[in-house]
Amino acid sequence: MNIIVNGGTRGIGRELVRLFSEDSSNRLIVTGRNETALNSLSAGYLNLKIIQLDLTDYERQSPRFLSEVMSFFDKVDILINMAGLLINKDFADITGKEARAIMETNFFGPAAVIKTLKPFFREGSHIINISSMGGFQGASKYRGLSYYSASKAAIACLTECLAEEFHESGISVNCLAIGAVQTEMVAEAFPGYKAPVQPKEMAEFITGFALTGNKYFNGKILPVAVSNP
Ligand SMILES: NC(=O)c1ccc[n+]([C@@H]2O[C@H](COP(=O)([O-])OP(=O)(O)OC[C@H]3O[C@@H](n4cnc5c(N)ncnc54)[C@H](OP(=O)(O)O)[C@@H]3O)[C@@H](O)[C@H]2O)c1
Repeated sequence: MNIIVNGGTRGIGRELVRLFSEDSSNRLIVTGRNETALNSLSAGYLNLKIIQLDLTDYERQSPRFLSEVMSFFDKVDILINMAGLLINKDFADITGKEARAIMETNFFGPAAVIKTLKPFFREGSHIINISSMGGFQGASKYRGLSYYSASKAAIACLTECLAEEFHESGISVNCLAIGAVQTEMVAEAFPGYKAPVQPKEMAEFITGFALTGNKYFNGKILPVAVSNP
């Protein structure tokens, strides 16, 4: 399988990379901004290409991203849009720059990556967008997460729209609205909070879903949490 983990340098994404790498028939492209983390991934795994990418500056970087993808893949079987930015600040306090960075990282960037990769998807390809319970309609909402939750709702809705546009090509698009996972993101945004799920556990679920979920779901926004909705 040719797999792209967009945002695989830390947290759940890094665990996804580790799990997919256990199958030596998989070829992986991993993106992120952190050069040190990217280099350590490329040193640790065969069949893995790293592409440094900042989703807040995607339009400028997209020609290089495309040519680097083309140098390694002629098709993409699985794309997981994992990258995300959470800034925990009240709506009244968040700056325009911070709000735009959230929307670029969580919505415009992943959307543009899908657009760039569209010619690489084939019948049977599976695109998975990672949203949050905060962006799931009807789920509990939390103070400080207005733009984050809105960005996650946007990528969830885009999922439904793209599934409609792509279904004639046999390309599936699903969205996982995941609950709290104990990652660096959560530790930085909510110091002291302990999430009930570990990154490895969530990555195991997402890996399995990426491989087989498109047999049963297309255009779906699935809550992946035992509480909250
Ligand atoms: N952890 C949770 O409780 C939770 C709950 C619901 C949803 N989620 C979602 O799950 C996904 C993964 O979360 P996580 O907790 O594993 O987060 P994390 O530990 O902060 O990892 C985020 C990943 O996104 C990448 N990234 C961030 N900003 C980027 C940018 N501007 N350009 C390119 N890559 C960027 C990071 O790479 P670099 O730093 O190298 O750029 C990193 O690989 C996110 O979409 C998050 O919103 C998480």
